[in-house]
This record gives sequence, C-alpha cells and structure tokens, in this order.
Amino acid sequence: MRMIAVERLVSGMELAKPVFASDGRVLLRESVKLTDRYIRALRKLGVFYVYIQDAATVDVVVKDSVTPELAQEVLGRIRRVYQQMSDPKAAEQMLRSGTLGREFTQLFTMLFNELLRDDAFIFNMTSIYSSDAYLYKHSMNVGLYACVLGMAHGFSDHKLIQFGTGAMLHDIGKLAISPDILNKPGPLTEEERLEVQRHCEIGYQMLVNQPEIATVSAHCALQHHERVDGLGYPRGLSGQSIHEFGRILAVPDVYDALTSNRVYHQAMLPHEALEYLFANTGTHFDIQFVELFLRNVNIYPIGLPVQCSDGRQGVVARVNIAYLQRPVLLVMEEDGHPVKPYELDLAQVLDVTITGCELLEADPLSGLA
Ligand SMILES: [Fe+2]
Repeated sequence: MRMIAVERLVSGMELAKPVFASDGRVLLRESVKLTDRYIRALRKLGVFYVYIQDAATVDVVVKDSVTPELAQEVLGRIRRVYQQMSDPKAAEQMLRSGTLGREFTQLFTMLFNELLRDDAFIFNMTSIYSSDAYLYKHSMNVGLYACVLGMAHGFSDHKLIQFGTGAMLHDIGKLAISPDILNKPGPLTEEERLEVQRHCEIGYQMLVNQPEIATVSAHCALQHHERVDGLGYPRGLSGQSIHEFGRILAVPDVYDALTSNRVYHQAMLPHEALEYLFANTGTHFDIQFVELFLRNVNIYPIGLPVQCSDGRQGVVARVNIAYLQRPVLLVMEEDGHPVKPYELDLAQVLDVTITGCELLEADPLSGLA
C-alpha cells in the first residue's frame, strides 16, 4: 500500500485502509474501489491523504499500534463524554460524581494495555479520520503519544497513568469555548484568541476537583501551552518551572495538531511537522523531549512516497527500529524512469537522504491554539 493525496486520486483506485468518522465509525472500508462520488466525499470530509493498494506496493504493509476496533471504542466513549459535557447540567453532574476522571483513567489504561502488547514497539499512527473528528481523535492520539513518551522516559506505571489520563484530558476546557471560535476558518481576533486561551485554566478547574484525577494530571491542562522561552500561556512560565508533564505534552500536542486534517488547514506531512518541532526547539519545546519524541515515534509513515537526493523515488517500506529517521525504501523509479521495484536500506546507504515527498505540500501553520 502507499499513501496518496486525495487531490491525486482517480476513480478505480482501491482503498488500503478505512476512513473513519468522528465517532470512530468506518465511513469507507478497506478494499473499496473509489468512484468519483467517493473522491468528492473524501474532499468534503476534509481528508488530505488516504492509503491505496496497488500491485507495486502490495508487500508494503502498515501495522497500526492500536487496532481499529479499540480505536473505535475509545473514540466513541470520548465522544459520548464530550457530548454530555457540552450540556451544562450534565457536565456539572459528571464533574460532581467523578465520572469524567473515572472514564478517562479507564480509557487511558485500555490504550496503555494495547501498546504493551506490541513487542517490537514502534509507534505507528496511520488511521485516517475526517476533520470533524479532530477533538476526539486528538484526545486519543495525545494519550497514545503520552504513553509512548512516558514509558520511554522511564515513568512508573502509576506516574504513566497520571500523565496519560491528564494528557487525554488536556483540552477538556475547550468544551466551554464557543465552537464558532474554535472552528473559525480564518485568523482569530485578539479577543477571540484570548477566549481560546482560557481553555487551559477552565480545564484545570474542571480536573483539579475530580476525585480520581491527581492534581499533577490537572497540570497537563493548565501547562500544555507554556513554552520554555516563557512566551506561552496562561502564566508565561519558562524552562524547568514548567512541570515536566507540560513540557513533554507540548511536543505531541503540536505535532498531532499539525498532522491532522482541520477545517482551517490541511494536514502537514509527518516529516514536515517534525521540522517544525526542530525549528522551535529551545524556544517553544524542551530539546530533551523533542529528542525523546524523535527516538520513539516513527515519523516516516510506511507507504509514504518519497524522493531521494540521488534521483531515486519510491515508498517507505519498513522501519529501522534502531534508526527511525532512516527507513527501508521500496525504490520504483530512478531519475524519473520506472525500474523493477527493489529495496534500499537508508541505514546502510548513508550518503542518500530523503529530500521530498510526492504528496502535495500543505499550508501548515495556521491555527495552533
Ligand atoms: Fe490546548
């Protein structure tokens, strides 16, 4: 299978991975033959790229770190909680009874147990979602990244559950912000920007009184927009005065926002998002946690079409566990001429680098609230 920009799809191509709706439901199944109608629907859903199956890349297989069934259950439960929370009376009841904290502690534990089942443990996140799924998917994805990074950083299980539960709930305060502002396609006014920024304090206040949520977990909501240079919000904390949870969380929070389909921007490709992280290391992000991310998350998704510095083109075929930035490629073209596909291991051939990707360039940086 290989990834392809939705703009480049033509009818007759076969989907290699399903496309999900906001509640985790499958909108288009794996193996569906695409028609013009489906392609138009994908565009309308805000989907930027999909995986297709073709003869040349049939051996390129992507194994998700989380099964679609579990992702569907977790997303469905997140959605139910969020929808209940958007009614003020029901929200008060959920907060008072401690249901919010209990539910998310359980959801994070399910994700944690799922990741533990994978012995090779390379974190791949490849499922495609419509852009209206963002709020729920972002909660699940950031929980997954938190789990991977927390484990790699040596957190005990107890601390990992505190971190991961807080990570899944980091944006819960957005439920109190008007969706018209949150989903506004254009730039925000100063007043709107300040309104969005309130989600950190609001989320903290929601979580800090939850009996099953540790105060330190509530700090995930309060501190995930602080920056190491002190230019973040809400308090403008800098360096080590930002809690470790906040400094770790800033990295996957931004990465996931950049690589997701949103109403106001197309998804950035994973390696482009990583370049953004690098460019902002030491100002926005703590360098040790950007490095931790880099060591533990596979940023070149399997199936990504790439161009190399020596004129070869192909797709990412496999990951080198010890060297995530130098995957094994399946080369299909040399200097624009098709060749019989063969593998090229970039961990062995160090003078060749990945210089580009065939998918359309995205307009990445709008709206990182
Ligand atoms: Fe946020």
